[in-house]
Amino acid sequence: MRIGILTGGGDCPGLNAAIRAVVRRAILEYDDHVLGVKNGWEGLVDSDVEPLSLYSISGILPKGGTILGSSRRNPLKLGDGMQRIMDNFNKYEFDALVIIGGDDTLGIANKLAEKGLKYVGIPKTIDNDLLGTDMSFGFDTAVSIATEAIDRLHTTAESHHRVIVVEVMGRYSGAIATAAGLAGGADFILVPETPFSFEDMASQLMARHKHGKNFSVVVVAAGAKPEGFDKPISKIDKTDEFGHPLVGGVGEVVAREVETRTGMETRVVVLGSIQRGGSPTAFDRVLATRLGVHAADMVHAGRFGYMAALHGTEITEAPVVEAIRTTRTVNPQIYETAKVFFG
Ligand code: F6P
Repeated sequence: MRIGILTGGGDCPGLNAAIRAVVRRAILEYDDHVLGVKNGWEGLVDSDVEPLSLYSISGILPKGGTILGSSRRNPLKLGDGMQRIMDNFNKYEFDALVIIGGDDTLGIANKLAEKGLKYVGIPKTIDNDLLGTDMSFGFDTAVSIATEAIDRLHTTAESHHRVIVVEVMGRYSGAIATAAGLAGGADFILVPETPFSFEDMASQLMARHKHGKNFSVVVVAAGAKPEGFDKPISKIDKTDEFGHPLVGGVGEVVAREVETRTGMETRVVVLGSIQRGGSPTAFDRVLATRLGVHAADMVHAGRFGYMAALHGTEITEAPVVEAIRTTRTVNPQIYETAKVFFG
């Protein structure tokens, strides 16, 4: 078979492990021809495709990012973008594509399937907000990086008797904020799923202060919004090509409010892209590799329109339409557990 591999959306640690797994399985088990599509859907719109061999994937397992490049380009925004993808799919004589992406990238694949595109998905998002799989690779790495940052910020917050506000990724889901906050012993966690009250937060921090703790660490997801706001706080009032607001800046607002309401000195740390860069954890390497091998098998089993997925401890399959139906929110049980340690 002739298979194409494409990585789309925000990059995340584990993409190269997944690419390597698909290529090795496809070539060694099935004698396939594998091609890499560059920069997400853009590569199929612009005909930017390169052959992938065992040589090209050698040594990429621990590398962050994606050797194929990625983008958030939305072909629906380019007049004939969808048709150009189909023309190139046919020109390169692809039998199927393996699409590694989140809801936007997989959503385009799902639309193209109506035009005859055959594909198998691999779920990817550091936010862990994709339905249909218990976990996406990249999340464990992001949580580990954020936890290490919180640990480091704890000691300086304690020395200077400050409140440090750490802004982590999570436009719609507080999964990273909650897991890293819980692991790092955060004193308050703000998530997009529950609008927060500045008053509540300030009184919890004051209560902690009265009990002799003269420092605090607050973790805030970039998409968190105060009560009464219908959209997240953002420095940039823009959306991306898929209509998502560009978030970032809520940490500064939270820190300012804490300082005004409590009189405590504050600092803000925005972790940003650091959470997405660098080597994947062992967990993410294993998960991405298992999903990649399974996806190559799915192509040969004709499981088009499905994605490889983690259910419990097993790699199984889930319909992509189910995964892109809506965004998965933070597990309320984990958030409730984290709340036990607030204040
Ligand atoms: O993929 C989603 C995400 O991780 C969001 O949590 C975050 O807001 C966004 O990516 C930021 O991506 P970028 O820096 O590429 O705009």
